[in-house]
Amino acid sequence: MLTGGSVAALIPAAGMGVRLGRQTPKAFVELAGRTLLRRSVDAALASGVVDRLVVMVPPDLVDRTRTELPEAVVVAGGAERSDSVRAGLAAADTDLVLVHDAARALTPPRLFAAVVQALRDGAPAVVPGLPVADTLKRVGSDGDRVLGTVDRSELRAVQTPQGFTAPILRRAHERGGDATDDAGLVEALGVPVHVVPGDDEAFKITTPFDLRIARLLCREQD
Ligand code: CTP
Ligand code: MG
Repeated sequence: MLTGGSVAALIPAAGMGVRLGRQTPKAFVELAGRTLLRRSVDAALASGVVDRLVVMVPPDLVDRTRTELPEAVVVAGGAERSDSVRAGLAAADTDLVLVHDAARALTPPRLFAAVVQALRDGAPAVVPGLPVADTLKRVGSDGDRVLGTVDRSELRAVQTPQGFTAPILRRAHERGGDATDDAGLVEALGVPVHVVPGDDEAFKITTPFDLRIARLLCREQD
């Protein structure tokens, strides 16, 4: 089945960035002249597949963001990422929805296009996934004893943008749950989730080390 219809990109940017350890909320930290949020918005728009942008930011940064990003609908996020996504969904009226972390600021536009293409080809839910390079061990509750080695061939490190038909993502968020990503909530509904190849550059900037890597990558592009 081929799915037409309009696409919204929801960009959760309301986190505090505790692990990055800056004064500024992470999405508002600058990376080679543009904030992480600005870079994520620019990548989404450059993909050519996004009709509407919804950005979720900390409540005290809503006014500033409206001025800085006139092309986006700006809403206040919530305490947890899933609360922020729910707030964004309430402001979206499209057939298809992408959810993309502002923190994945160097995501190539072609990844947005690949996720939307998989939705248009009929998948109800799509995630980018990468094979895991490290050997993975299961450890005991204290973390200091190996219980076994995990078969990594059947594991994928999952990124954003994640794509959904809007009714499915709405249903998943109405039902809720404790998943760490949107696809996890959709899986709990029993809906099949399709995997497309992820991209190393879609890595999430979480720690000061990640920001150093991102700065070096930007220097390489200049
Ligand atoms: N996010 C959000 N609302 C929240 C928490 C997170 O919109 N209540 C967003 C972040 O802004 C980020 C994305 O979700 O773009 C992924 O979250 P994460 O990398 O964990 O960012 P932070 O929560 O800001 O970082 P930390 O967990 O270190 O505080
Ligand atoms: Mg977080």
